[in-house]
Amino acid sequence: MASPEEAQKKIAELKAQINHHNYRYYVLDSPEISDAEYDVLLRELKQLEAQHPQFLTADSPTQRVGAEPLEAFGVVEHPTPLLSLGNAFSGDELSAWHTRISRLLGHASFDFVGEHKIDGLAVALTYVNGRFATGATRGDGFRGEDITQNLRTIRSLPLAVPQDAPPRFEVRGEVYLPLAGFHKLNREREEAGLPLFANPRNAAAGSVRQLDPRITTRRPLDIYIYMLGSAEGKATPSTHWETLEYLKSLGFKVNPNNRRLDDIKQVEDYYQTWVEKREKLHYEADGIVVKVNQLELQQRLGDVGREPRWAIAYKFPAVQGTTRLIDIGISVGRTGTLNPYAILEPVSVGGVTIRQAALHNEDDIRRKDIRIGDTVIIQRAGEVIPAVVGPVTSQRTGKEKEFKLLEKVFDKEKGHPACPVCGSEVFQPEGEVMYYCSNAACPAQAQQRIEHFASRGAMDIRGIGENLSATLYEKGLIKDIADIYYLKDRKEQLLELEKMGEKSVSNMLDAIEKSKNRPLARVIFALGVRHIGEETAELLARESHSLDALAEASREELMSIETIGPKIADSIIAFFRQETNRDIIKRLRESRVKLEEKPVKAEALPLAGMEFVLTGTFKTFSRKEAEERIKTLGGTIGSSVTRKTTYLVVGTDPGSKLDKARSLGTKIMNETELQNLLNQKA
Ligand code: IVH
Repeated sequence: MASPEEAQKKIAELKAQINHHNYRYYVLDSPEISDAEYDVLLRELKQLEAQHPQFLTADSPTQRVGAEPLEAFGVVEHPTPLLSLGNAFSGDELSAWHTRISRLLGHASFDFVGEHKIDGLAVALTYVNGRFATGATRGDGFRGEDITQNLRTIRSLPLAVPQDAPPRFEVRGEVYLPLAGFHKLNREREEAGLPLFANPRNAAAGSVRQLDPRITTRRPLDIYIYMLGSAEGKATPSTHWETLEYLKSLGFKVNPNNRRLDDIKQVEDYYQTWVEKREKLHYEADGIVVKVNQLELQQRLGDVGREPRWAIAYKFPAVQGTTRLIDIGISVGRTGTLNPYAILEPVSVGGVTIRQAALHNEDDIRRKDIRIGDTVIIQRAGEVIPAVVGPVTSQRTGKEKEFKLLEKVFDKEKGHPACPVCGSEVFQPEGEVMYYCSNAACPAQAQQRIEHFASRGAMDIRGIGENLSATLYEKGLIKDIADIYYLKDRKEQLLELEKMGEKSVSNMLDAIEKSKNRPLARVIFALGVRHIGEETAELLARESHSLDALAEASREELMSIETIGPKIADSIIAFFRQETNRDIIKRLRESRVKLEEKPVKAEALPLAGMEFVLTGTFKTFSRKEAEERIKTLGGTIGSSVTRKTTYLVVGTDPGSKLDKARSLGTKIMNETELQNLLNQKA
């Protein structure tokens, strides 16, 4: 082990290196090293900090998620209120604003900064002596919630700033969920049977307001800083544009799409550019924010009510349109869900012709009172499938018909509601809003299961996308996911398929071969068990180590796993009980797809070889809990302090063990230090 002096020096070096690479990756989006190289640095730092906890500080890059869940958020008083913005919905309204402020200032010789108005959530970040100290929501503008520990999980938010930064300052910005992250999160939630977030804004707000930062850290939140709230003890620039540049130099992430604009004509051009290009953005923006550049003029203009006179939000036109809802169709999803969708009279919305739109489920249709024959409002947002917002009830003729899913799929010959694809019976599990096709071999499900199995987050078999999986299924080359691994015996038939030459066939077969060694978690996810998303699959892989063990687990065993409830447990049991699924797994095994994972050896666990002795009482956990967590990570528990003891963990009212440790020179840590150690090792 390194001497304390060496360790301290090395820790400082590693921190600086890691902070630099974090900045390159998360702020500049231009990494200099590979993820693997980065992991090596981080692991080394974690190890040193564990061995020398006295050098562990809150601004260490290992401490993004260190904190325990909160009971409730604290309150933060904003030193100066967080204002909102007035709106302009047209060029006329923008120029009216310009005329008004020019008149108030007595001249029109000022310039502007144009920024995107990102649909996220406003936050204020306070830095004290170079460190991120407090982060708060806007709240009512005067008082917000203390969400410091959640904001720390945002990798592009600097935990420390350069030494020449003002000793105390506050910056403001927008926390948002990039669209890709938003869609992924909703897919996961759908899998898990959780309610979906209506938009990225709600998802970001929901993520930031989690009491448990371990949930927040899994959400890929990001932040753009858009102003300096206040700064003490140091002169700062006199224009907004230079301030943004200055904030960049302190390491903050500032939107690269911001522009300095000479006059109101350039503001209008900037706006038009983004009206056209907004769909290419990786975040949702609902307009631009126009700000007077000179801070002195901002001061002179001041505020009216809760809105500054020196800035205005110029909103993008809504990408909405109205059209007639001709009918409601039903498609069958991968897990057998009967999904209603809107069949529309074609309509152009923001330059795209729309014929179909999403309708989530029967409850949702009823809640919005959408009827067949209605004139409905359609909305497009970003690249996602357009959605029906609601009916225009003033246009009703009285001939509109309510939608009833079971009537829609009623099969007269059979005398019961039936799956529109395979004709099997449909059912609705208790407590769920969706109806399902009862036939596990339903072609619609089978084909989508193949597609899911091969998809990026699952077995990642390049080449088998939506189109090819449909073709392979239709041509009878594969009936289920296991058949994928027998395709190599059917090369001739593959070559006969349209657009499949030697090269593409051999690439596909290579990709199939490679997929045999994917981690167990991916296999579990790829099977497409209802309610099991990527995260749950990871958890199950960690707990079970093999597909067989998972298949044999009882309901009680499954439910003893943290976060697994009856719904998921029952779904797993039902899946493995089915003969067809057992057969698929058997054939996967026969074709040598890896279905188990060695449990990590005790020696390889992060706390291996360390003995902990605990004394006194603890505030945030019981002694038993602490012992269990230490043991899971490979540490051992001693009953008394000896020369073998690595750490004595001291709570309140410690006993004689503390004296013993002192006399032996045993390392001592307190409750927080233990928490930190356990959290970073977990
Ligand atoms: S400036 C006094 N700039 O829009 C200036 N706000 O109604 C107030 N927002 O919730 C804020 N992007 O969080 C500003 N580039 C941007 C922004 C922005 C989004 C949000 C802000 C606030 C709302 C203002």
